[in-house]
Amino acid sequence: MRLANKVALISGAASGIGEATARTFAREGAKVVLADVNAEGGERVAEAIRLANGDAAFVRADVLDTASIEQMIAFTIETYGRIDILHNNAQVTSAGRIGELELEAWKRGIDGGLTSYWYASKLAVKHMLDQGGGAIVNTASVSGLAGDFGLGTYNAAKAAVVNMSRVFAIEYARKNIRCNAVCPGPIGTPPLRAMETRAPQVIDPIKEAIPMGRLGEPQEIANVVLFLASDEASFVTGAVFVADGGLYAHSGMPSLTGITPGGW
Ligand SMILES: NC(=O)c1ccc[n+]([C@@H]2O[C@H](COP(=O)([O-])OP(=O)(O)OC[C@H]3O[C@@H](n4cnc5c(N)ncnc54)[C@H](O)[C@@H]3O)[C@@H](O)[C@H]2O)c1
Repeated sequence: MRLANKVALISGAASGIGEATARTFAREGAKVVLADVNAEGGERVAEAIRLANGDAAFVRADVLDTASIEQMIAFTIETYGRIDILHNNAQVTSAGRIGELELEAWKRGIDGGLTSYWYASKLAVKHMLDQGGGAIVNTASVSGLAGDFGLGTYNAAKAAVVNMSRVFAIEYARKNIRCNAVCPGPIGTPPLRAMETRAPQVIDPIKEAIPMGRLGEPQEIANVVLFLASDEASFVTGAVFVADGGLYAHSGMPSLTGITPGGW
């Protein structure tokens, strides 16, 4: 098993990418702490892992609250005695045109999307230093590499998560602590799947913009997170791993195939 004897803490583990990662980590032998503001969903996933003979515990945590972040780290140490892997993944954002956002909405997006990742990492690193190593994987986004209309706080927070990951990577590289960012493209997590029927006029163009022509699956991101968290990635730190069906590889230009003389 690829994570035997490891203890992993995953935020936003009640749904979507975090849920898929928690199930995957547990299958690979990790003891998993699932943290989420949604207690019912988090308990459901933890119970499903235990029923499949995995080792999992749930802690309710609101990443907008620093005391709650402290508590999810403390819970991990109290429950399993160490923390080898931190997957910062919870999603908090505020939508709206960037020039029209209220200050509180901006602060919420940055606190939830960036400060919470930094604070959890800072606290986890203390334990990782005592243990002699660890791995942090931050869920950023292709929205941290380029801009979207109406997602300004999200774009700013995710871009900062990408570069913060690099700083953790270089500052702790000689302490055997690795830090990497994964940048998913649009993934068929519950919020997006719900929109497929409710608002196909939104989801269909998204699929069209992805060269693979479909949304990703949460498991396809969990597979990347597993690699980055595992010892197989022992020389990988400060990496920004894009998993987006080719979305970010495209310049945005329409296809010129068959139009240009000479034929591409
Ligand atoms: N789904 C996508 O298309 C996509 C694309 C790129 C990046 N991402 C990123 O992936 C990560 C996971 O999102 P997802 O798509 O799986 O969404 P999701 O809604 O399925 O899961 C997000 C989880 O975060 C939890 N959460 C929300 N607010 C919280 C808070 N204050 N404290 C603790 N937990 C909280 C929710 O309860 C939920 O369980 C996010 O960081 C998101 O930005 C998602």
